[in-house]
Amino acid sequence: MTTDRQIRITEVALRDGLQGHATLIPTEQKLELLSLLLAAGLSNLEATSFVSPKAVPQLADAEELISRARGLAGVRLSALAPNARGVERAIASGVHEVAVVLSATDTMNRKNVGMSLHQATVASEDVIRRAASHHVPSRAYISVAFECPFEGTVRPEVVVLLARQMLEAGATELVIADTIGAAGPAQVQELCGLLTESIPSDRIGLHLHDTRGLGLANAWAGISAGIRRFDSSAGGLGGCPFAPGAAGNLATEDLVLMAESGGYTTGVNLPALYDAVQFASQITGRELGGRSMSWAKTRRNAALVGSS
Ligand code: COA
Ligand code: ZN
Repeated sequence: MTTDRQIRITEVALRDGLQGHATLIPTEQKLELLSLLLAAGLSNLEATSFVSPKAVPQLADAEELISRARGLAGVRLSALAPNARGVERAIASGVHEVAVVLSATDTMNRKNVGMSLHQATVASEDVIRRAASHHVPSRAYISVAFECPFEGTVRPEVVVLLARQMLEAGATELVIADTIGAAGPAQVQELCGLLTESIPSDRIGLHLHDTRGLGLANAWAGISAGIRRFDSSAGGLGGCPFAPGAAGNLATEDLVLMAESGGYTTGVNLPALYDAVQFASQITGRELGGRSMSWAKTRRNAALVGSS
């Protein structure tokens, strides 16, 4: 079991957070949000997707966003690519890392990328290999890893098998995704335990959604099982438009607060992150913020009154 006390966060508000947002957010505003997140210490950012603009119109500006953001000091940009065209676009734009999303069930793959489980597995392997041939690392998501909105409970053995296939193709990191936020801590513990029997824990990340309010409990179960990599989204923005019931992601501010209170480091500056959340709220017109947000606002207002 690892004694590593550092939690590595991939901030996904710009990709998972915005992909299903109905009104188009201008590239300029996405770049401003990205800069605020970076200033808060979130240097690993999943920033966009190189997918069909018809499937996800919000992210049709992927080239412009990546080419303008890639020069920012300290930034590490990841982008999702479902096929050969996507990975070539992503690499030409200058991403530091690509991500593939393989769902654990046949129906979810058909809904998300119009492919069977077998076709999606082959396509994901192809993306990973193409990225590797350009010396670009890849994160492989295993989506709906606990429960699928169409096929129900997913067996942990299936997830382990797909995870191993992605690693064998050359994926540098696995991201186990509770896409619809259906897992509880016991399932997280069980799956992480099974995965770490044959895969080093530093190659595994967890991507959690807070649909049923169990995001933090699940993250803690992951930490207890030796996982140190987490995806989260500032303000809890997010949800897959192709997975019914996928509510917001685990909020980055909640994850940071919990991890640091447990003696782990994240490198994230919370007041700066709350500023980024407020900006995300403004540009999306949505009330955002994890479970700690109202506490943080009250605390900030009290500090402002105190200093005036
Ligand atoms: N980038 C841009 N355009 C792409 C593309 C890519 N990576 N891959 C395919 N396209 C275009 C095709 O050129 C075609 O365009 P046209 O209609 O103008 O001819 C159109 O998209 C459809 O392509 P096709 O190969 O027939 O695939 P499809 O319709 O079965 O769609 C995906 C497959 C994967 C491209 C599509 O389902 C997709 O982009 N899904 C997004 C998945 C996603 O982001 N999910 C949320 C995150 S988990
Ligand atoms: Zn997600």
